[in-house]
Amino acid sequence: MATSVVETINLRKTYMLGKVPVDALRGVDLKVEKGDFLAILGPSGSGKSTLLNMIGALDKPTEGKVFIDGVDVSTLNDNELADLRLEIGLYSNSSTSFHGSLREEMLNWQWLYLA
Ligand SMILES: Nc1ncnc2c1ncn2[C@@H]1O[C@H](COP(=O)(O)OP(=O)(O)O)[C@@H](O)[C@H]1O
Ligand SMILES: [Mg+2]
Repeated sequence: MATSVVETINLRKTYMLGKVPVDALRGVDLKVEKGDFLAILGPSGSGKSTLLNMIGALDKPTEGKVFIDGVDVSTLNDNELADLRLEIGLYSNSSTSFHGSLREEMLNWQWLYLA
């Protein structure tokens, strides 16, 4: 069987908000195969950006694994991570978008591109 482009296993991310733990991801198992086009939908605060940041190797999970093309991201050193980030296109316009109307809300998307 071909290697998945992305695989996450029991991915967990807990942020600390001061002394209060916030579970952003609670065990995400995801497989993305070559050629897949995937949309991740969910209400604000449900963990979409957190998940993309893990897959894009921009942030580290509290627990669990991310594999990109079969490579365990947690085994990569800083140089290898930098190379991987060049391979993965993560585009976000969320910081420039406004909230309010539906049209503005629809502009608040993020793209993750793996080729
Ligand atoms: N840097 C952070 N520090 C603390 N809490 C965070 C941080 N980033 C996200 N969160 C929290 O994690 C949860 C998921 O957020 P996020 O991944 O941005 O969701 P979405 O992209 O689906 O709106 C929310 O409760 C959010 O408040
Ligand atoms: Mg988001």
